[in-house]
Amino acid sequence: MEKLFPGGKILRLVVGDITRVPADAIVNAANAALAGGGGVDGAIHRAGGPAIMEELDQIRARIGRCATGDAVATTAGALPARWVFHAVGPVYRDGRHGEAGMLASCYATCLRMAEERDARTISFPSISTGAYGYPLEAAAAIALDTVARHLERAEARVREVIFVLFDRRAYDAHAGLLEATSGDSLE
Ligand code: APR
Repeated sequence: MEKLFPGGKILRLVVGDITRVPADAIVNAANAALAGGGGVDGAIHRAGGPAIMEELDQIRARIGRCATGDAVATTAGALPARWVFHAVGPVYRDGRHGEAGMLASCYATCLRMAEERDARTISFPSISTGAYGYPLEAAAAIALDTVARHLERAEARVREVIFVLFDRRAYDAHAGLLEATSGDSLE
């Protein structure tokens, strides 16, 4: 499913493995230690190869940890991309600990980083909805809203944002919300 925005910009939803979908920038669901892990993080390091962790080692030596809601950029190694943006989503507790703002910040920060690098296409997983336990529907609403606000901006140079959703349940949660919003939607 896709939704069109002013100037022909596109928000696209697909089911798949984010390491297989070409984009200028691929977003990782990382942790504050930038230490690798399971889920998307494991898949990205496996498919991208050791160059990604080597660059994270240098970043860690410089800045220590990455704050929740923030992101750092590395090479994409062997992935079909130029950069990986390692975004640190919030661990979900009860929704009253600033989780929504931190999750929105992940998406907004990665979109800003894409603009700074002149990346035209960027792919996102559903950040925080796996090991970090963020309820899928609530996370999808924040993700779609933050991306839509960016694509609505006339000065945005990012042309295409792809949500690569790992299973049908995640896809349906996003598609249901996207359908409910106004605008040109194409199946
Ligand atoms: N491509 C796309 N989506 C994927 C992939 C993949 N290859 N693998 C898993 N997913 C989906 C999961 O199904 C989930 O919906 O990504 C979503 C996010 O799940 P996690 O990867 O567990 O990320 P998160 O909840 O943000 O937890 C981050 O997990 O792997 C560790 O190091 C990571 O500590 C960090 C934590």
